[in-house]
Formats: sequence, C-alpha cells, structure tokens
Amino acid sequence: MRLLIVLLLLFQGVQGKDLGKVSGYVGETITLPSGVDPSWTLSRIDWSIFINTTWIATFYKKVINTDRRPEYKGRLKLDEKSGNLTILSLCQSDALEYTVELLSKERQNVVNKIRLIVKQHLKQPTITAIQSTETEAGCTLLLSCSSPDNGVNYSWEIKPSCRHNSNISQSGASELLAFCQTSADPVNVTCTARNNTETASSDWTSKCKGPDKTHTSRDRCGLVFLFGFLVGAMVMVAGVLVYHFRGKISKAFQLF
Ligand SMILES: *[C@@H]1O[C@H](CO)[C@@H](O)[C@H](O)[C@H]1NC(C)=O
Ligand SMILES: *[C@@H]1O[C@H](CO)[C@@H](O)[C@H](O)[C@H]1NC(C)=O
Ligand SMILES: *[C@@H]1O[C@H](CO)[C@@H](O)[C@H](O)[C@H]1NC(C)=O
Ligand SMILES: *[C@@H]1O[C@H](CO)[C@@H](O)[C@H](O)[C@H]1NC(C)=O
Ligand SMILES: *[C@@H]1O[C@H](CO)[C@@H](O)[C@H](O)[C@H]1NC(C)=O
Ligand SMILES: *[C@@H]1O[C@H](CO)[C@@H](O)[C@H](O)[C@H]1NC(C)=O
Repeated sequence: MRLLIVLLLLFQGVQGKDLGKVSGYVGETITLPSGVDPSWTLSRIDWSIFINTTWIATFYKKVINTDRRPEYKGRLKLDEKSGNLTILSLCQSDALEYTVELLSKERQNVVNKIRLIVKQHLKQPTITAIQSTETEAGCTLLLSCSSPDNGVNYSWEIKPSCRHNSNISQSGASELLAFCQTSADPVNVTCTARNNTETASSDWTSKCKGPDKTHTSRDRCGLVFLFGFLVGAMVMVAGVLVYHFRGKISKAFQLF
C-alpha cells in the first residue's frame, strides 16, 4: 500500500507541462523544445510518440540514438544540453503529439508534451491558354488560372499593360480575357493565387507578337531585296562598261 502511494506520488511528480503546439512546413525543419529548466544537467532524454511510448530519440549513458524508428531515420537531431529535438524535412505523418521525458543528474524528472502541426505551402497555380489569336489589331488572349488549393483568390498582372477583364469560371478557376495592342515584346502574364496567409504565382509568355512586328520584318525584307537589286545592277553595269572599254583600259594600264 505504502509502495503504491509512493509510486502514485512519483507518477504525479512526473506529470509535466503541456507545451502547446509548434508548426512547421512540409520539407522544412522544426525544433521541438523540451521545455526543460535550463539549469538542469540532463542525464537522460526520451522522446516518444503514441500512447504506448514508442521511443524515437534517446540520450542515455552519454549515447544519443536517433535511429530508433525507420520513419524518422536520418531526420532527427537531439541536443543533449537542452533536450530539444530537431526534425528535418518534415512530412505530413510527423504531425503527432510528442512526449519528452527528462532526467537530470540531480535526479529531477519531468515529462512534457508538445503537439506538432505540419502545414503545406500554397502550391503554384497553373496557367492554361484557352485561346491566343493574332489579328490585324493585336493579340487576343483567353487564359485560365487554377490552383490545386481550395479557398484561394486570384489576381492577374500583364506586362506591358493591356486591356483586360477577369472572371471566376464555374470550375472555380480564374479566366482572363486580354487584348494587347503592343507588339514589340512578347506579353508576360502572371497569375497569383492567395489565401489569408500565403501567395504563390506562375508566369506565362505569349508567343503572339502582334501585327506591328510582322510589318517591320516584311519592310526589312523589302529593304534587303532593294539593296540586293541595286548592288546587282551596279555590278552588271560595271561589267558592261569594262567589257566595252576593255581596249582603252588595257592601253591605259600600259602607259604606267
Ligand atoms: C531549445 O528550445 C528553447 C525553447 O524554444 C530555446 O529557447 C532554446 O534556445 C533551444 N536550445 C537549443 C540549443 O536549440
Ligand atoms: C505502438 O502504437 C503504434 C500506433 O498505435 C503501433 O504502430 C506500434 O506498433 C505500437 N508499438 C508497440 C511496441 O506496441
Ligand atoms: C493557406 O494554404 C495553405 C496551403 O494549402 C494552408 O496550409 C493554410 O492553412 C491556408 N491558410 C488559410 C488561412 O486558409
Ligand atoms: C517578359 O519576360 C521575359 C523573360 O522573363 C523578359 O525578358 C521580358 O523583358 C519581359 N517583358 C516584359 C514586357 O516585361
Ligand atoms: C465574365 O462573365 C460574364 C458573364 O458570364 C461574361 O459576359 C464575360 O465575358 C466574362 N468575362 C471574362 C473575362 O471571361
Ligand atoms: C477573396 O476575396 C473576397 C472578396 O474580395 C474576400 O472577401 C475574401 O476574404 C478573399 N479571400 C482571401 C483568402 O483572400
């Protein structure tokens, strides 16, 4: 009976703090604080998951073991001074409650719990060209932008600026209708998806260069043709002249 009471008291002494939660992003690194009193010199650290206390990282008899579970292999770092556990390249399945049991050289004992939230960055939206037509007056573009994430708002940016209008289609994607008169440069379009916390964007470049560009290249073609024609004509005239005056030319050379 007395032993039971002692055990119960010990067990109560062991009940530690709930350290709340920390959150990290998929693929990134997060450090779970042990919550230990910094004045303690730790002799033992046990980080575990699940109610059956599955050890994932331990420090005991000066040995750090972070390779206890295949799902965390190579992804854990245990700091023996602070008891903090660092998880590298987070994955969604790491989102669990973690328990750390700490024992000091002075035989003080504490068990703390912390919940890890794993978030995901907003994914890049996809721009699809529904239509891209080149007319006498310019380029008409009809583009669609959709995000794999839910609850996002879209915005468009067009360079150089063009007349445009956008809509949310029935499928929830954003549709852009743009008419661009400018033609010297390709048209760059950016679609940005945003939710309350983050933004992600994608770029698209129009291959439609508009009518002006075609005109200038045709003009340049004409110029090259004219130049070629003139040079050809001059060479022919020179040839005829040389042939006609060949006698006089050879006489003139003999004079020197
Ligand atoms: C351990 O975590 C605590 C709380 O976040 C922090 O103050 C301390 O600097 C950390 N120690 C190390 C060595 O990372
Ligand atoms: C502990 O629980 C987890 C999940 O409930 C289970 O996968 C694991 O096999 C258990 N470990 C032991 C040693 O019972
Ligand atoms: C924003 O999107 C990210 C990625 O999907 C998600 O984790 C986060 O909870 C979202 N934020 C809001 C406020 O919806
Ligand atoms: C469009 O994007 C290309 C490549 O990123 C860049 O070279 C060009 O200057 C941009 N044009 C405009 C009008 O912003
Ligand atoms: C937006 O929707 C209205 C009504 O359905 C339509 O008349 C208009 O052409 C749409 N605009 C764009 C840019 O899709
Ligand atoms: C999206 O836009 C609507 C209307 O402008 C606004 O009420 C809502 O809060 C916006 N949502 C996000 C996630 O930015």
